[in-house]
Amino acid sequence: MKRITMMVLAAAFALGAATGAQAAAYSKCKACHNFNEKNKVGPAWKGIFGRKAGTYPGFNYKFTKYITGEPWVWDEAHLRKWMCNSKKAVKEFTGNPKAKTKMPPQKVCDPKKQDEVIAFMKTL
Ligand code: HEC
Repeated sequence: MKRITMMVLAAAFALGAATGAQAAAYSKCKACHNFNEKNKVGPAWKGIFGRKAGTYPGFNYKFTKYITGEPWVWDEAHLRKWMCNSKKAVKEFTGNPKAKTKMPPQKVCDPKKQDEVIAFMKTL
């Protein structure tokens, strides 16, 4: 019985993924980020992958106040930590335990979900 339930669940999940019934992992980011060149609540995502942190023109960043020296680059490792817990990541990346960011933690910590977001970012 348990096995059958599991199989039904697995099939339903596969179907959902195949038909796109599940929202893409990056859809929650859309509330604050534009995927084009326009800033919104958060900075625009155009060219985000490989971009230097806190450098998008016209956006008033908070976390850049805590950067001393060269900003980090938004590569896979940095993006994974950031989308899981931006509040914690900003302290690590700046080396400043008091560093803060305007972006609330998004709790996208599952590597598969992160892969989806990163793959999408590479297309922008
Ligand atoms: C509630 C609004 C909000 C949501 C939702 C949100 N962000 Fe942000 N994001 C921001 C803000 C605001 C900033 C600027 C932070 C600062 O200046 O401290 C930011 C900054 C960023 C940056 C840094 C960009 C740069 O130019 O350096 C990345 C990367 C990022 N967000 C990724 C994500 C991802 C991935 C998601 C979805 C999983 C997401 N954000 C969801 C508000 C949001």
